[in-house]
Amino acid sequence: MSPVKVVVTDYIEPDLDWEAGEMARRGVEFHTHQLKFAPPAEVVAATRDADVVIVNMVPINTEVVSHWKQCRLVIRHGVGYDNVDLKALEAAGIPLCYIPDYCQQEVAEQAVALILACGRKIVTSRRVLDDSSARGSWDFTGVVPMFQMAGQTLGIIGCGRIGSLVYKKLHSFGFKFLICDPYLTAERKRELGIEVVDQETVFRNSDFVTIHTPLTAETRHIVNSRTLAMMKPTAYLVNTARGPMVDAQALAEALRKGVIAGAGIDVYEVEPPRPDFPLFGLPNVILTPHLAWYSENAGRTIRELIVLEIDRFLAGKPPRYVAKATA
Ligand SMILES: NC(=O)c1ccc[n+]([C@@H]2O[C@H](COP(=O)([O-])OP(=O)(O)OC[C@H]3O[C@@H](n4cnc5c(N)ncnc54)[C@H](O)[C@@H]3O)[C@@H](O)[C@H]2O)c1
Repeated sequence: MSPVKVVVTDYIEPDLDWEAGEMARRGVEFHTHQLKFAPPAEVVAATRDADVVIVNMVPINTEVVSHWKQCRLVIRHGVGYDNVDLKALEAAGIPLCYIPDYCQQEVAEQAVALILACGRKIVTSRRVLDDSSARGSWDFTGVVPMFQMAGQTLGIIGCGRIGSLVYKKLHSFGFKFLICDPYLTAERKRELGIEVVDQETVFRNSDFVTIHTPLTAETRHIVNSRTLAMMKPTAYLVNTARGPMVDAQALAEALRKGVIAGAGIDVYEVEPPRPDFPLFGLPNVILTPHLAWYSENAGRTIRELIVLEIDRFLAGKPPRYVAKATA
């Protein structure tokens, strides 16, 4: 019998030497590629006869899947799986395993950091310090006004693994909360001690809105010119979920015109964003390069969890988490 063949389409680690050693110990044939920007034909050529495909950002669509001869499992390196056409996989009878349990703390910490950095105008403060030092006198006009954050309202859209951690972490700050998640079970709401409201109530009444939904047809451009217009002019938007949740053109216009006060953004519709990305150069936005997931701990954990999934596959066990089409 020929050995099981595992193919990695793309990866963000400096190398996959540790994984190669683990696979060799298990007698697995292991091939790695960097096909993030490659045409589908190259992805097909690399994956055609794989038993397991491990994908990071490469689009896995009907065209690619239709050429697979024997694939029995796709593993998405990460939490979101919007680059994988689930319907194409379902039609081919291939489960999509994803890894939702490796970086929730880090993403929640990043969302909290962005909320606090927006509210306390940390990035602007550094500019004020530099300018003031150069002139030899304090000039705080650039950071005025700021408001006490205790007592303000934090809107959370999507209260799953990460959204609920943001809720727990910021509880002690004295925020009031407005939470929108139509899919939370009554039991989970009881556990968290929360009630939910509709999306419009969140946009209209929050001082900060933080997005933690998956990317679906329903959540694409959930932040747009209409929902931004509902927000308070003193409000901030934070997005650490997925870029396409926010219409970046509409956000840039809202930030320029003072429709909202500012934003903290970690994720982009096109990654990395192009030089003409409309949020570049705006003073009231904090941008980070899709690294909310990152810590040395999380980087190690996901590698171990992916090897664990290979072990489960070799033992004939189902993946721990199988993605389901939501919209
Ligand atoms: N920036 C990063 O590095 C990074 C890392 C990991 C995850 N993420 C992203 O964070 C997001 C949240 O991840 P998670 O693990 O908490 O997911 P999760 O599935 O645990 O939680 C998502 C929640 O959103 C809710 N939801 C779905 N549709 C909704 C809607 N229309 N309105 C309101 N709520 C809705 C679901 O009911 C669920 O409770 C995902 O988009 C994921 O891709 C980003």
